[in-house]
Amino acid sequence: MNKGYELSQKLFAEAKEYIPGGVNSPVRAFTSVDTSPVFIDHGLGSKFFDVDGNEYIDYVLSWGPLILGHCHPSVVKSLEACILKGTGFGTPTEIETEVAKKIVNAIPSIEMVRMVNSGTEATMSALRLARAYTNRDKIVKFEGCYHGHSDPLLIKAGSGALTHGVPSSPGVPASIAGNTINATYNDLEGIKKIFKEIGEEVAAVIIEPVAGNMGTVLPEPGFLEGIREVTKEYGALLIFDEVMTGYRVAFGGAQCLYNIKPDITCLGKIIGGGLPVGAYGGSKEIMSKISPSGSVYQAGTLSGNPLAMSAGLAILNELEKEGVYEKLNTLTTSLTDGLKNAANKVGVPVTINKVGAMFTLFFTDEKVNNFTTATSSNLEKFNVFFKHMLSNGIYFAPSQFESAFLSTAHTQENINYTIQISEEAFNKVKNI
Ligand SMILES: Cc1ncc(COP(=O)(O)O)c(C=O)c1O
Repeated sequence: MNKGYELSQKLFAEAKEYIPGGVNSPVRAFTSVDTSPVFIDHGLGSKFFDVDGNEYIDYVLSWGPLILGHCHPSVVKSLEACILKGTGFGTPTEIETEVAKKIVNAIPSIEMVRMVNSGTEATMSALRLARAYTNRDKIVKFEGCYHGHSDPLLIKAGSGALTHGVPSSPGVPASIAGNTINATYNDLEGIKKIFKEIGEEVAAVIIEPVAGNMGTVLPEPGFLEGIREVTKEYGALLIFDEVMTGYRVAFGGAQCLYNIKPDITCLGKIIGGGLPVGAYGGSKEIMSKISPSGSVYQAGTLSGNPLAMSAGLAILNELEKEGVYEKLNTLTTSLTDGLKNAANKVGVPVTINKVGAMFTLFFTDEKVNNFTTATSSNLEKFNVFFKHMLSNGIYFAPSQFESAFLSTAHTQENINYTIQISEEAFNKVKNI
């Protein structure tokens, strides 16, 4: 059992005086699990350590980027070398091309890539490019998918917005919302119907090829293929938001796993090695429309900055090595099998969706394949489960509608312990 959270609670009270809600990104506030967050002091490998001296096996990993765990020696070494040379110059640097080359070699649909500073910037810029390229305004997104917080994409968004019960935010102009059409994940007929009605006006369909922001939800066979077909037929672009799935579900992202070629791919998280980053890429033909080679404006003071590029390059070099994804898969399967067995043993109905090194345990016995089925989960059960795990040193995301992540630093011992504690947690939720 943990030693308590006295200092975390004190720091949170103080933070709330100066920072809205005490946090710089809403889900960190633990609002949906009805408690206050732990303040982390440092991390190492698969664990992090809070200011009260509690340690946790970390299954959030900075919301995905840390696929090698905290403070991986290669990333630290690369950052140390970089920082001594200066933190940024606002000029081109060689390492930007090195990272771009790595991405082009890994992700089949990308021939050119532009670096930005966050996933939000990547999707926002990808939309502008798609609109300019097609000379159309409308975009289609899927309920429960989250693509960052730009206006056109904050329409029935998942993740933090979903957790807080605000499907779309005040401040998004109705005129902008009117150009975003919401579709249902895994409902190909629904998409076909939208295209039949307004297909000629659609600039792009944007999708998480594996959804991670309503919890992990996999595309059903034929769904992504069908979207690819219909977008082609109507001259709309297909944007894969692989900010979460890029380098996580497979080295080449979900597009490699499912063998679909989108027109534009958005990346973030892992490619920055834990530093702020985003990127979007596609064919030379499409990408050359971007300024300064084309007229679609997009820029960034810190875009491609040496620190993010150094951390990113170090992580991508490690991920290229033999056996990394096999190891991640084996570890993740061992954990999800163990959690499923523990739940079955205790008699708690759960559905676990998993792909590569990401998964979600939903407290429902329904098949979870879209937003509606994800929200059939019993949140009270989730809350009790979450708190028991936390107080025993296991850090899952503080919301049912998030994905859990594993890193190469996780060990079988970590997993065995997690399964052991989960059985206690399932026993606690059994009668809810
Ligand atoms: C799929 C996806 N797209 C976009 C974003 C936004 O990225 P950022 O938080 O870096 O702006 C996220 C963030 O979690 C994401 O999961």
